Amino acid sequence: MSTADIGLIGLAVMGSNLALNIAEKGYTVAVHNRTASRIDDFVVTAKAQGLDGKVIPEADLAKFVQAIKAPRSIIIMVKAGKPVDEMIEELLPLLDKGDAIIECGNSLFTDTQRRFDYLKPKGIGYLGVGVSGGEEGARHGPSIMVGGSKEQWHNAEAVLTAIAAKFNGESCCAYLGEGGAGHFVKTIHNGIEYGDMQMIAEVYGVMRDGLGMSPKDCAAVFKEWNKGPLNSYLIEITGHVLDAVDGETGKPLVELILDKAGQKGTGVWSAIAAQQMGVPATAIEGAVAARSISARKDERVAAEAIYGKPNRAKTDVTLAELEKALLAGKIVSYAQGFAVIAKASEENGWALPLATIAKIWRAGCIIRSRFLDQMSSAYAKGGNVNLLVVPDFVAIMKDSHPSLRKVVAAAATGEFPMICLSAALSYFDSYRQAQGTANLIQGQRDFFGAHGFEIAGRGADLHGTWPSTLGK
Ligand code: 6PG
Repeated sequence: MSTADIGLIGLAVMGSNLALNIAEKGYTVAVHNRTASRIDDFVVTAKAQGLDGKVIPEADLAKFVQAIKAPRSIIIMVKAGKPVDEMIEELLPLLDKGDAIIECGNSLFTDTQRRFDYLKPKGIGYLGVGVSGGEEGARHGPSIMVGGSKEQWHNAEAVLTAIAAKFNGESCCAYLGEGGAGHFVKTIHNGIEYGDMQMIAEVYGVMRDGLGMSPKDCAAVFKEWNKGPLNSYLIEITGHVLDAVDGETGKPLVELILDKAGQKGTGVWSAIAAQQMGVPATAIEGAVAARSISARKDERVAAEAIYGKPNRAKTDVTLAELEKALLAGKIVSYAQGFAVIAKASEENGWALPLATIAKIWRAGCIIRSRFLDQMSSAYAKGGNVNLLVVPDFVAIMKDSHPSLRKVVAAAATGEFPMICLSAALSYFDSYRQAQGTANLIQGQRDFFGAHGFEIAGRGADLHGTWPSTLGK
């Protein structure tokens, strides 16, 4: 008999935690995993948490499908890429028209769009869902960004809304648009996450090497900042990371961790999407580049041997200035991220609701912060305008950009790398100037390629009379 409200395939940590979350909210969940021993392990865990009554374990895929009430909603939580396509092919002959596959990994949004288009004519719904909040979030309430088949979304809406994080009682789960919309928004969430993390790391560098602060001292500052406008999950965990002590040596753990950052691709996808659509997202790009440079440890060691140790004299930057610099950088980065989302919405006909996106990021996800509440209110007033011209944020930027400027200037003279914060500052300075320098670029383009330029009052596609440089 079909008794499960929903099915879930893929019982690694994220999948298991999502299934436990579903069971805890009172829904019956059928679970399946390719390696059957994982199912047994999961049942033991569910039992220990008193949730096994809500779980239907099934090692046989056909029986698993049959255990789910029609129209079926089946979450797949397998590794992004080929495993998702393979799972879809395995499921397809077992499904009926009207059923839906709900893919909750970090998939490339164009893959999601392709799968959506592939399944639509077959009458199978496809939801590409971004789930943020890590393992803890999956278990106790993630932020859930839904995209894909709207009709089938309504079949799964109650479950997904129930398992999501809540902010002031509102669920941090929303349907955002067709096709790859959910995974696109999750990708940009991650791009913004990269920017936040990198900017925090850059400020930590100044604290450590310019102000001579110990990890413990830095931790105390981040804990303090978490009570103010920077209040956010990432600032909070930074305090904990800096506070941690290595059990083996008694030393601050952060000082033992190798300075090589990993990345799984979502940051790069964000930067590529931004570039492809012609939306400047320099903070995200800077953050991705910083990770890539960090990974080249051997090259960095060799280069330092050539140029000598960076000459990091004590800096006169204050902690209050660093806090404001971080705030200004963050506003620029979010302004860029939301501009990318707005453009993608236009290009793909998604009608992505910016205010709702900011709302469902207020709790559960990695970039959750106080700031997003303010941002959702700003977008709720309407328009897709750049955050840098929204009055509330104008006021904060006016107050904080001088600090960002001072910090970036001090970093330049003090030989501190600041890829992300300096990119944010340059974006701000470029964006807020009425007269830039692209007039020269246009002159150069016309000189070598007759690409044309515009002169106010005289028209576009004009050309200069340039001297020939051939043969010189
Ligand atoms: C989240 C995280 C999550 C994951 C990232 C890490 O929102 O819960 O973003 O999706 O931790 O994929 O990405 P990197 O390995 O690229 O840092």
